[in-house]
Amino acid sequence: MKALVLSGGTGSRLRPITHTAAKQLVPVANKPVLFYGIESLVAAGVTDVGIIVGDTAAEIRAAVGDGSRFGARVTYLPQEQPLGLAHAVLIARDWLGDDDFVMYLGDNFVVGGITELVEEFRRSRPDASILLTKVADPSAFGVAELGPEGGVLRLEEKPREPRSDLALVGVYLFTPAVHEAVRAIRPSARGELEITDALQWLVDAGRTVRSTVISGYWKDTGNVTDMLEVNRTVLEALPPAVLGEVDGDSELVGRVRIEAGASVVRSRIVGPAVIGAGSVVRDSYIGPSTSVADGCVISGSEVEFSIVLDDSRIENAGRIEGSLIGRMVRMSGAARAPRAHRLVLGDHSQVQIAP
Ligand code: DAU
Repeated sequence: MKALVLSGGTGSRLRPITHTAAKQLVPVANKPVLFYGIESLVAAGVTDVGIIVGDTAAEIRAAVGDGSRFGARVTYLPQEQPLGLAHAVLIARDWLGDDDFVMYLGDNFVVGGITELVEEFRRSRPDASILLTKVADPSAFGVAELGPEGGVLRLEEKPREPRSDLALVGVYLFTPAVHEAVRAIRPSARGELEITDALQWLVDAGRTVRSTVISGYWKDTGNVTDMLEVNRTVLEALPPAVLGEVDGDSELVGRVRIEAGASVVRSRIVGPAVIGAGSVVRDSYIGPSTSVADGCVISGSEVEFSIVLDDSRIENAGRIEGSLIGRMVRMSGAARAPRAHRLVLGDHSQVQIAP
């Protein structure tokens, strides 16, 4: 069995972070979301991994390499444009050969992994198997309608009027039967070859499409709120450790991880939280559910329920909550009156200011 991991696409809902970085590489507890996916594939015994890459190919390659650090063998499959999930299957045809495969969306996060699902598929080998979960806003997802026996009747991509609250999770299992389906379908109204249409084609052709409803935790990390929520969940299980330096005037409460080379001075950190390698936290408060990446400086500020990416400086900036701060960002308090907001914000930035 092989894995097809989708890491192309544009990530418009995570702008401006994704103007300069792949959305699959935004870190959760200081580790790119894509890495959790690859790890769960390897844990399920799937080590032959093809990664679909688009505009951010160079960055994904630099981060993942040949896959050996995950115990995987990675092949990169360039997709010229994000023409749809089924298009990714179409262009991967030669690499996939006649193997069964797991298709894994690189921005999805499935707590508890996919081992059981893969094992069950190997045992029973339906033509396709999908994962579903109940969501509050089904029209933001692919939605499945099940029959009385639990069989898949109908699938629709982001329907305006959803027929159920069962959303497709971004993990799909296929036999080579899917190749005929992706060749047969036509682009949808939004111009994409939809995997939901390919699945519907299989259902209509009388093929077996099985579904499993999971109640465990799953998130599509496509937007900032979900990203912060996944970060919170992962931090809750993070092994606490102090590998850097914490001075006598500082206090660490709960699950706190201080990476090597980081230093905490006259500060209070309430976990779960992680401070990345080489970062400095000085005269500050870091609150629960916060990940500070490597090489950051946080001084005279309060940061809670937030993700701060590499090499950013937050100095005398007051209190920051529920925020996703990019790389090499500079935030500082105004030294003297007038205490005005002076901003250099990238395209698509979002700022909420406490007056
Ligand atoms: O997260 C689950 C949802 O994922 C499902 O419920 C939907 O049925 C499914 O279409 C998908 O919806 P999204 O709108 O979240 O898909 P997105 O465009 O974000 O793409 C998902 C991943 O696949 C992402 O890592 C980018 C990558 N991708 C996407 C497209 C369209 C590609 O590599 N190539 C593509 O052509």
